Amino acid sequence: MKLIIANWKMNGSIELVKQFSTQKFPENVIFCVPDIYLSFVNNLTLGAQNVSSIPHQYGAYTGEISAKMLKDIGVKYALVGHSERREYFQENNTILKQKIDNLVAQDITPIFCFGEKLEEYQSNQTLSVIENQLEPVVGVKNIILAYEPVWSIGTGIVPKKEDISKVYEFLQKKFAQMPKMVYGGSVNSDNSHEILSTWPVDGVLVGGASLKPDEFQKIIDFAS
Ligand code: PGA
Repeated sequence: MKLIIANWKMNGSIELVKQFSTQKFPENVIFCVPDIYLSFVNNLTLGAQNVSSIPHQYGAYTGEISAKMLKDIGVKYALVGHSERREYFQENNTILKQKIDNLVAQDITPIFCFGEKLEEYQSNQTLSVIENQLEPVVGVKNIILAYEPVWSIGTGIVPKKEDISKVYEFLQKKFAQMPKMVYGGSVNSDNSHEILSTWPVDGVLVGGASLKPDEFQKIIDFAS
């Protein structure tokens, strides 16, 4: 079954969490809601949007949430390397590697996001950019890769199938055992059927459309 991953970002409300919690979703639907709502979620497969890079489970690190704490409340997945965190929080490969190590130690599956910016795409640098971005996951066994070209996030623009195939083939060569790869960027109920049925992907990572229950349900229906 294809994975459907909701990334609420810094959006949503306790009402929305409760609304989703009243429904029963299959396990392939993963809800990455803001940490503060995680413990209010019932019935749903939980993903975090972030985890501390500090290499300790506890300690004097004000404002941080460790992988161990995520594990305690039943989190099974966590986003790492999202372009918004790379850009607004200066998360580099060293920090991302530490986050992955912390998650792996708690048996939480990292959903590792990567993707090039528009100017990099236009100058044909996609593969060299993602090659560098993938450094923190080399050798990590239990991981989901999320290809999210920065120019498609929140813009309504999705890549061509050929673009995805190029990335997929590159990853196939890079990883002895190809991890699951999902696509993210402006996925909605109009384009998800084509993406899920014709692109070489194991699922989708959905931002804006995951906050609208009816819209999100349609995307889930295409995957089942
Ligand atoms: P979007 O966001 O679906 O709103 O484009 C996707 C993401 O950033 O994960």
